[in-house]
Amino acid sequence: MPANDAETQLVKYLTDAHSIEEQALVQMKRAPKLVEGDLAEVFARHEGETRSQEQRVRERLEAHNASPSKLKDAAGQAGGFGMVLFARSQPDTAGKLVMHAFSYEHMEVAAYELLSIAAREAGDSETATMAEAIADEEREMAGRLAERFDEAVEQALRDVEPDDLEEQVNTYLADLHALEGQSKELLEKSRKMDVPEPLKAALDRHLGETEGHLRKLETRLDERGATPSAIKDAMLRLGALNWGAFFAAQPDTPAKLAGFAFAVENLEVAAYELFLRVARRAGDEESVALAESILGEEKAAAKAVADQWPVSMAVA
Ligand SMILES: [Fe+2]
Ligand SMILES: [Fe+2]
Ligand SMILES: [Fe+2]
Repeated sequence: MPANDAETQLVKYLTDAHSIEEQALVQMKRAPKLVEGDLAEVFARHEGETRSQEQRVRERLEAHNASPSKLKDAAGQAGGFGMVLFARSQPDTAGKLVMHAFSYEHMEVAAYELLSIAAREAGDSETATMAEAIADEEREMAGRLAERFDEAVEQALRDVEPDDLEEQVNTYLADLHALEGQSKELLEKSRKMDVPEPLKAALDRHLGETEGHLRKLETRLDERGATPSAIKDAMLRLGALNWGAFFAAQPDTPAKLAGFAFAVENLEVAAYELFLRVARRAGDEESVALAESILGEEKAAAKAVADQWPVSMAVA
């Protein structure tokens, strides 16, 4: 089966990683303009790192007599542009930008973890070592963003009058509801795919949890007296983000599904981290407790998916 041999797989994963870096580069160039101070510097610094990562991946592609996919990179650049435009269109730009960037770094981590497995299988230790080094850089960037969740909330709420803080809590709750709805759709879609048993079990378990999150968010919105249109408005806001373009490609293999799910779970992690801080400011202890309990499940779900990377590649 030449289409499935280790070398072909490796070039595929290298091409994907390259496409992801091209998209990241577009984002890193524009992101510093949307935020201020230290947060802007974090993005500017990662632009340099991303440039170097793109070069290193390109060199490994060339070592395999392959070239970056022009078509894919063009799509990637459009997606990168879309993400920044999305953040800019939202009332809390800094929050949305940091949240999506945090998720994107985790998608990169997944891409490089998978690339490293593919490289080892193809006997290319140079690419494997490079992939592991870049995965560490992406994890560090995600960590730098996580250290600035407080600052992101600060900048997102700077223009909000104290009176509007209550309204912000409702908006964040409704946005979380829309996000959980998207996440549920992805988890349901994965049921129709041919997925290895342990990965399927991890995703199925989280589908049940996700349904619980949706109910808890609905209850909290209700208790807070949010209008029914809040949920609808949030779905429209999220609809402005083209998920297909943001994530470069629809997951069509168990490995891509695992990478995509890992990014989505981390998008939720960041969303609850930000919400936690907004609720704390508003003195809404019940929402803080709700966010803390769900946050634990999102982190566990992300880890459960990451644990299945080797398994998810076995049938790729
Ligand atoms: Fe990168
Ligand atoms: Fe990155
Ligand atoms: Fe989740």
